[in-house]
Amino acid sequence: MRIQKYKNRIAAIVETTPERVFLYWKGRVALYAVLKAMGVGEEDEVIIPAFTCVVVPNAIIYLGAKPVYVDISPDTYNMDISKLESAITPRTKVIICQNTFGLSSNLEQITEFARKHTLFTVEDCTHGFGGYYKGKPNGSFCDAAFYSTQWNKPYSTGIGGFLVVNNKSLLESVKALEHEKIKPGLLDNITLIMLLFLREYLINKHTYYFFINLYRILSKKNLIIGSTQGDEMSDIKIPINYFKEMSFVQIVAGIKRLKKLKQVNYLRKKNAKDYTAFLKANNKKFVRESLFDDHLFLKYPILVRDRELFFSNARKNKIILGDWFISPLYPIKENLCLWFYDKDLHTNSVEASKKMLNLPTDIEDNRKIKRFLKDNLDLIE
Ligand SMILES: Cc1ncc(COP(=O)(O)O)c(C=O)c1O
Repeated sequence: MRIQKYKNRIAAIVETTPERVFLYWKGRVALYAVLKAMGVGEEDEVIIPAFTCVVVPNAIIYLGAKPVYVDISPDTYNMDISKLESAITPRTKVIICQNTFGLSSNLEQITEFARKHTLFTVEDCTHGFGGYYKGKPNGSFCDAAFYSTQWNKPYSTGIGGFLVVNNKSLLESVKALEHEKIKPGLLDNITLIMLLFLREYLINKHTYYFFINLYRILSKKNLIIGSTQGDEMSDIKIPINYFKEMSFVQIVAGIKRLKKLKQVNYLRKKNAKDYTAFLKANNKKFVRESLFDDHLFLKYPILVRDRELFFSNARKNKIILGDWFISPLYPIKENLCLWFYDKDLHTNSVEASKKMLNLPTDIEDNRKIKRFLKDNLDLIE
């Protein structure tokens, strides 16, 4: 059966058994499932980095719990662990660590700290599937890890996500939730097939910005299946049909696209190394080699001074740049307090998001990008 085949393939990459792999419509749904299985509910608190995607605090809030943010370190774009202790209260139940852009957090210290305080840990590996930390696949260190196969992720099934449960004691409660999952409808499957077709055959460097902007507008208005739907950005009530199963189309696409993972990950690492060398040689901010182990670098983060100008120069040159985390609760720009976020408390996260852009890492030839960076050096921090 295809479901089993897909689980086997995923399990082989994260070095676990297929019984520990659970499939969902999106990565955020996998997070919601594991938090529910951990018993997170009313009055509980869940610690997350203050530089993340809004769907992460959403999953916590949907369960009646409260997200508590920890500011990032400007070097790693991950939680500054020196600030972790002060975020703990008697209500804390879980700590979520994140592979921001593929970079791992200080996982040994965080998991040790969690053990000391009897807290669960979850690794947000939505950017890090296929990467390694201290010789182990990303997602191995915490009680559970969730992954995403949305458009720009390590491999894509349009949208999609899965969970890997490392802590045996959680397995039964995650399994018990399986029957609650809603089956995707025919329309979901047909729309996904259309979107995957469009992505594969019609999107290229000439059409990218047109289609990405159109897709974002349509999904914001809930007119098409989107990465982040309108109601997830404006409201913090759980959307209808949120707890959805992975569809057949996603499973078939996943099995097919996983085959290319190794090859693409090789490119990601190679390009990241090149960007690092380039930025270092030009006295610009780069990700220190000592901070990456065998990371994936889904995107390469850079900081720029006049982002609008930089972005429009890139567009003119048909260079595709990522805008992940141009706000600290990406993609929300306003009313962050609705998500319990206080901008004054997380200055590193807010400052990084003001200047953030990301370079692509899944390309064969990065010479054009480096030429572009060279021509725009004065705008790079
Ligand atoms: C850091 C982070 N966590 C979680 C998610 C959610 O993944 P998904 O879109 O599969 O729900 C994303 C989405 O891009 C993300 O960037």
